[in-house]
Amino acid sequence: MGTQLQTPSASTGFKTFRVMEKIQESAVITSFVLTATDGFSTLRFRPGQFLIVRLPLGDGVTALRNYSLSGDANDPSRLRISVKREPAPFDRPELPPGQGSNHLHDAVQVGDSLEIAGPTGTFVLDEESPRPVVLFSGGVGLTPMLSMLHQLSRHSSRPVFFIHACESGTVHAFRDEVLALASRRPGIHVHFCYRNPEADDLAKGVFHSQGLVSRETLQRLLPLDDYDVYLCGPRLFMQANWRLLRDLGIASQRIHYEFFGPATVLEEDEVIATAPLATPEPTAPVEGALTVEFLPSGTRVAWDESCQSLLELAEQAGLTPAFNCRAGLCNTCQVSLREGSVEYVETPLDEPQSGSILLCCTRPTSAVTVDLRQ
Ligand SMILES: Cc1cc2nc3c(=O)[nH]c(=O)nc-3n(C[C@H](O)[C@H](O)[C@H](O)COP(=O)(O)OP(=O)(O)OC[C@H]3O[C@@H](n4cnc5c(N)ncnc54)[C@H](O)[C@@H]3O)c2cc1C
Ligand code: FES
Repeated sequence: MGTQLQTPSASTGFKTFRVMEKIQESAVITSFVLTATDGFSTLRFRPGQFLIVRLPLGDGVTALRNYSLSGDANDPSRLRISVKREPAPFDRPELPPGQGSNHLHDAVQVGDSLEIAGPTGTFVLDEESPRPVVLFSGGVGLTPMLSMLHQLSRHSSRPVFFIHACESGTVHAFRDEVLALASRRPGIHVHFCYRNPEADDLAKGVFHSQGLVSRETLQRLLPLDDYDVYLCGPRLFMQANWRLLRDLGIASQRIHYEFFGPATVLEEDEVIATAPLATPEPTAPVEGALTVEFLPSGTRVAWDESCQSLLELAEQAGLTPAFNCRAGLCNTCQVSLREGSVEYVETPLDEPQSGSILLCCTRPTSAVTVDLRQ
């Protein structure tokens, strides 16, 4: 999400891969290294992209979950995903914990097969850019950054600032790997910020700052320059740091970001402040532009050519339709088309039923009315 870069489209269809290694990276994050079952096929990916994993949860129920590739894109025969075990929300302990991540942690072992699709995703390292790079992550949001760091440490001389925030050393994954990659060449700076360091972290001095990443820390770390920023982490982390980066004068089109959760609009305040069309109240259509109406709220917005899909347009308008793969693979974003016509920018894996469209891979070709009730 965020500023979009050109990427190859998703290779559609699920393939079976075998788990070669299962590695505990921290108290909550476990990696799965995957290889093709035929032993030689590879999946090429760009640093930052993710896989879609189809998980059998029992009783014929399957779940689709996205996991960023955390390893080296130069070794596509060895695909690594790194999964955080998702507990029940801390304020609703009566709810079941995350189904997919707990299934992976508890039930999937070395030698087992996993069905995966992709790689896909537009949150990718812009390797053409000459600008210094800030890789800024919170929690498990470091997975795409790690893959980008692998690439930058081998194939670039651009200055890199790897900033990672997490709770403490217990949940800090990939510390040694990040430091080893940073030591490969000059110009890679690493900063770890622990919110609640433990006594052992303090004794060993394994972090650089404490509490939340502050404006002062960023000012100190990032000399005045024109950066490409990649940002990924929990919603509150993203919102707070987006604002800090903007306050430091970094232009919004230089901040690329990915959310691991349901869709949210990061620059919410700015969008609301500058785009009166982004309101749930019906508004007048803009002359000359295709109008898109979302039911049941009646939100009417002009089609924005900078959006890659109707899903992005809906999110930009403050709506939160369901999605999963964002690549035409899972049909989670299927909605009814009440009026008008659309074109597919990505060929869906399963054609949606008549009268329905997939929001994540369609653009309007006329004024349209879309009903988000599934
Ligand atoms: C592009 C992308 C890349 C991603 N990359 C990674 C990655 O590299 N690593 C990673 O770990 N994750 C990643 N994710 C997130 C991942 O896809 C899953 O969303 C995550 O693992 C949680 O899935 P789950 O099945 O465990 O949880 P879910 O079953 O989907 O549950 C999510 C949360 O909802 C709670 N819950 C359960 N029931 C209810 C209810 N009735 N009401 C409210 N809440 C409820 C659960 O307790 C849990 O906390 C990525 C996501 C995206 C979109
Ligand atoms: S979100 Fe998966 S098909 Fe659209």
